[in-house]
Amino acid sequence: MSNIRNQWEERQQHLGNTERAVLFKNFPDAFNNSVHQSHLDFLMACMPEGTRNMLDVGCGYGRLALPFKNKFPEITIEGVEFCEEFAREFEKNVGPCFHGSAVDFIPQKSYSFVSIVTLLMYLDADHQYQVLSTIWKALEPGGRIVIIEPYMNILVSIRRLLKLKKFTPTGGKVGYFSNQELRRLVKRVVPETAISATSYTKFPFTGFPRLHIGICLEKPAA
Ligand SMILES: C[S@@+](CC[C@H](N)C(=O)[O-])C[C@H]1O[C@@H](n2cnc3c(N)ncnc32)[C@H](O)[C@@H]1O
Repeated sequence: MSNIRNQWEERQQHLGNTERAVLFKNFPDAFNNSVHQSHLDFLMACMPEGTRNMLDVGCGYGRLALPFKNKFPEITIEGVEFCEEFAREFEKNVGPCFHGSAVDFIPQKSYSFVSIVTLLMYLDADHQYQVLSTIWKALEPGGRIVIIEPYMNILVSIRRLLKLKKFTPTGGKVGYFSNQELRRLVKRVVPETAISATSYTKFPFTGFPRLHIGICLEKPAA
């Protein structure tokens, strides 16, 4: 884990607090901006009505939380982030941040809305399960969690089959999820009926292949 953390510290030093730092470092800004907008659209569409507070786990510098803060200044937004400089930037612009691993985060209150965007890809299966169960317990009745992770698209599958050089969009070894894999993971924690929406981020400017898969989980109202 500390190895991944060091890679993120280095990446932040190299690329700063930018979309390229938290999305695709080798792609142009217009590409990353299109991916960013697609993530944001799905998150905005999933935000429950009456949201009072939001938690962004693996929040980076606040790429996604900051637009929420600007659009809904009345809601409080907290983050969880182990890269020091990202965590500081988040606190400067968005709200309080737990400086540490998502695996060590123990919620002190409940949340209406939680985003987990391209974080589970860095965790092993046990830690994915641990983080999801902790967050699900801290979710208010009627609250929602949105998860967005890299999609196991055809190009990734081919590269894996051919044992080509690892396909690592953000650096280091990362996980990819098919729809079934992501559902299998969330169904270890939540009932199937909690899955309220799925979405795919398409490869900008072509519509193919799918880059990310998003899933929205809703806790039944009490
Ligand atoms: C691909 S970036 C995405 C950042 C943000 N969610 C976004 O979409 O803009 C992954 C982020 O997760 C953070 N991260 C990775 N593993 C983590 C862990 N175990 N605990 C906390 N943060 C972690 C990294 O430092 C990085 O900021």
